[in-house]
Parts: sequence; C-alpha cells; structure tokens
Amino acid sequence: MATTAPQLEGAKDEMAALIKAKSCGPILVRAAWHDSGTYNKDIPSWPQCGGANGSIRFKPEMSHAANAGLCGALALIEPIKTKFPEVSYADLLQMGSALAIEMAGGPKIPIRYGRVDTTGPEECPAEGNLPGAAGPFADGSATPAEHLRKVFYRMGLSDKDIVALSGAHTFGRSYPSRSGFGKESTKYTKDGPGTKGGSSWTQEWLKFDNSYFVEVKAQRDEELLVLPTDAALFEDEGFRQYAEKYAEDQDAFFADYAESHLKLSELGSKFSEGTPCCECCS
Ligand code: HEM
Repeated sequence: MATTAPQLEGAKDEMAALIKAKSCGPILVRAAWHDSGTYNKDIPSWPQCGGANGSIRFKPEMSHAANAGLCGALALIEPIKTKFPEVSYADLLQMGSALAIEMAGGPKIPIRYGRVDTTGPEECPAEGNLPGAAGPFADGSATPAEHLRKVFYRMGLSDKDIVALSGAHTFGRSYPSRSGFGKESTKYTKDGPGTKGGSSWTQEWLKFDNSYFVEVKAQRDEELLVLPTDAALFEDEGFRQYAEKYAEDQDAFFADYAESHLKLSELGSKFSEGTPCCECCS
C-alpha cells in the first residue's frame, strides 16, 4: 500500500520532536543500520536477502546479541507508527536515522520512502550478519579489516563505504551493559543528556561532524572509545586513504557519508509504488 504525503510529513514532524525531546538520535541511527545491515546481495529473493525491511522489530531478530539495547529505539517510534499507520516500520527507522543526523549538524540524506515491511517473525534473517567490534571473529577473519570487508562486501558495499559509514560513531556511545564495550561512564557522558553513561568516540557526541576521524587518528584521550574496528581504519592501507581524508576535510566526509548512508538505507528494500518522495513532494 502506498503512503500518502501528509502521513510522511506528520511522521517526520513527530520524529523531529522526539529526537529533540529525548536526545535519542544515536540509538535511532544504530537501529536503522542494524535493520539494513543484515543484507546479503547473493540472495535474490525478498525478504530472505535481509536488509531495510523492518524485520528488526520482531523478537527473533531483536534478540540477536548485536541488537542489545535496540528495543528501546523501537519503543520510541511505536507511538509514531500508531499515529501514522501508513508509514512502514522500515521507513520510520530510516527516517529517524537520517533526520537525527541532519538535526545534529550532519549532511542531509535524500531518503526515499515507500519501503514494504516484513510481516512476521518467520521473515527474520539468521543471526550473525552484523559486524563484531573485536576478535575473535566468528567468520574466522584474522584481523578487524578482513572482518569488515567480509561483512560489508556481502552487502555490496566498498572500502570507501566502510570508512565513511564508520564515521557515524562520531555520534553516540557504547555501553558495557549492551555491547560489552566501553566504560560505565566517562567525564563526557556521566550527565547525559538522555541516558547517562557509556563511552563516546568523541567529546561532543550529540554533534555530527568529522571529529571521530580526528580522535581515532590521534588516540590521545583515554576517556574516548576506539574499538579495534575503528583503529583498523587508520591501520589498513586500503582504508587509510579515506580515513585520513575525512580527518582533514569535513566536507569530503559529509559528501561521501551521505552517499554511503543512502545506499545503506535502501539495502534489500522493496518499495511500494505511488508513495511520494518526502523531499520533493512536501
Ligand atoms: C563498522 C562496523 C561497526 C561496528 C563493529 C560497530 C560497533 C558498534 C558498537 C559495539 C556500538 C556500541 C553499542 C552499545 O553498546 O549500545 C556501536 C554504537 C553505535 N553505532 Fe556502530 N558499529 C559499526 C558500524 C556502524 C555503522 C555503519 C553505523 C551507522 C551508519 C553505526 C552507528 C552507530 C551508532 C550511532 C552508535 C551509538 C548508539 C547509541 O549511542 O545508542 N555503526 N557500534
């Protein structure tokens, strides 16, 4: 079923108000990426190929270890879904993510709408498609760089996409109680806003800028997080050219980030006909 422009616009307004009131942008970005990031380009059938299809809302997928804590994101968007039922969960997730990045000072991402939702738990992908942050890696990879390539190449993404998208860690925090990574609290996170605690990658973790690349390169502040997969961006020859560029040039990062994020937001998505594109129809 197509979604009408007033429903999309109404949902977008409510989403913006939610992000402002709860400082919940980062968890929305992570939830959207974890819905998309199960995609396997070698599986031709939908929804078996995984991807941005709303399946993360079902228990079998939400219970995957990589999704710890993300039920909170779904609970946040549920009232918007109730109010604007024509907008699919898959669209709401991608809308929340792109809007949060734009509201935090990041690039505008021209998200396309009309994603068809999966309808039941039996349509969830198997566990193990999302990347781990440190070895030993379940796929047998010897290094974080090898693991990142295995996971992102399976989605049809490139080295440039891997580095640009990793820049989303400029936003948000890691919690020992969820992923097991990071500290209980740091001087940058002890007071929130929003949930208190965790470790951030950057000092101003509610701002979307290129400081992730600057900090991961410098590794000068013990209060900031660097995961093995973050460090790999400056250690691996193929990744380093992009990471260095983004540390130097925020405009270059924003341009590449917007392009890669748009691709990520459409992985495995099936679009219904007749849904207006919010960006050009509103
Ligand atoms: C490159 C491989 C990646 C790995 C290994 C990874 C790993 C992680 C881990 C361990 C956390 C902490 C989660 C928690 O404890 O709650 C996290 C948080 C986060 N990740 Fe990633 N991630 C990756 C890629 C991405 C991508 C591609 C995006 C988005 C485009 C992204 C966006 C985020 C955001 C926004 C947070 C913060 C969530 C919050 O504050 O609640 N990550 N990631």
